[in-house]
Amino acid sequence: EELHQKRYLSNGEMKNWDGPLHEVYSPVYIKTSEGLKPKLIGSYPVGTEKEAQESLNAAVEAYNDGRGEWPTMPVSERIKHVELFTKKMIATKEAVVKLIMWEIGKSHADSIKEFDRTVEYIYATIDALKDIDRDSSGFQIVEGIAAQVRRSPLGVVLCMGPFNYPLNETFTTLIPALIMGNTILFKPPKFGTLLHYPLQEAFQEAFPKGVVNVIYGRGNVIIPGLMQSGKINVLTLIGSSRVANELKKQHPKVNQLRAVLGLDAKNASIITQNADLDLAVKETLTGSLSFNGQRCTALKIVFVQKSIADDFIKKFNKAVSELKFGLPWEEGVNLTPLPEPYKIDYLNDCIADAEKFGAKVVNENGAKTNESFFYPAVVYPVNKEMKLYYEEQFGPIVPIVPFDDLEETIQYLINSTHGQQVSIFSNNSDEVAWLIDPLVNLVSRVNVNSQSQRGPDVLPFTGRKDSAEGTLSVTDAIRSFSIRSLVAFKMN
Ligand code: G3H
Repeated sequence: EELHQKRYLSNGEMKNWDGPLHEVYSPVYIKTSEGLKPKLIGSYPVGTEKEAQESLNAAVEAYNDGRGEWPTMPVSERIKHVELFTKKMIATKEAVVKLIMWEIGKSHADSIKEFDRTVEYIYATIDALKDIDRDSSGFQIVEGIAAQVRRSPLGVVLCMGPFNYPLNETFTTLIPALIMGNTILFKPPKFGTLLHYPLQEAFQEAFPKGVVNVIYGRGNVIIPGLMQSGKINVLTLIGSSRVANELKKQHPKVNQLRAVLGLDAKNASIITQNADLDLAVKETLTGSLSFNGQRCTALKIVFVQKSIADDFIKKFNKAVSELKFGLPWEEGVNLTPLPEPYKIDYLNDCIADAEKFGAKVVNENGAKTNESFFYPAVVYPVNKEMKLYYEEQFGPIVPIVPFDDLEETIQYLINSTHGQQVSIFSNNSDEVAWLIDPLVNLVSRVNVNSQSQRGPDVLPFTGRKDSAEGTLSVTDAIRSFSIRSLVAFKMN
């Protein structure tokens, strides 16, 4: 059943749209009279600058320079609204999970996980905020001053999430921004748009008018005007550093704009000759290939010490061959169709480039394609001439770099423009200790004998260099979307 969505939430109303619609095709192919084709699953408005500006005005008005109903509401009341929203959201689970599968090809198990993790994230945020609020509602006496330290909102937040976690990562910024008293302008991701439709009514019913507004349209058409207006106080984006930098520059007073960004990453797996090889294979496999490698936290380059490289590749290729390809709803499926139609050309281009400089696809069936499926390619030996050495492939290619000396891996991270995470595989504690200290100053998370990942969600999630700005996670996100302010009474 197709979902042709012709309404959008703005200023508390579900407005009708009678302009052009963008047709959404699933990465899942179906049989048609002309052969196998991507399935049409629905459409959504191609909004223009006009509607985006109207929604911006609604968010500005609801904030009302900090005097609106929402930013002045007691935290305990705002929490009640978010709880009401969450209750309504839970009722949409079946519809949303189905749309995640059809729109971005995520497996059923992972789509359910994405939904449930989002609900858990909201409740964890509420709990963390209750703790912070309890701490900040009292006064401390300092040098004859009774001081109350509050957490105040920042204003209007423009919120844009990614296609790979269209629900979860969007909400890891939207929910903390909202609960802290900001008003929201939210643009669903390019892929993973329809699944937000069932949630619009929940937003409408749970929040005062203008507090949450959903905008549609092409980003390069509708976003510049919003940024140039100078009325966006916080830009939050999970996407590329190139887009984030372009958007920031458009703001007339960039020093008055807060940015909370989750950006590019090229996380390295470093496997030394002292590693438990089976563990390194298992963790690097899921680290690099879950959801077809389309995770910002994925392991996107693997450094293996030369003495164990052949053994590692043999075991790794075997593990890759055991992964199950299939449609998102098939039982136990690991690899699924890719939602970005241009991705397969890009991946092939990366492989051709690596081959030009002497590497090969070393696993059986590696890089074979069928419809929107791409069979994972293990590429070896990768070196610094190749795109795969430094570019974030964001897909099912595992580049393997042989190394002699551990110092080479540190040099890689020093020279990298990315700085999110690294994974070390070694059972030699001296070697691990020797690596941790420099690495933790180059990336934001060092994983020992485990793959890189964002969770558990209560831990800080960020990155250095081009990988992030600001910190996400439950408590950190509350801080990212608010500012500490002080009410000070002079005691006589
Ligand atoms: O795509 C980036 C996400 O932050 C990845 O999250 O490590 O939980 O899959 P994850």
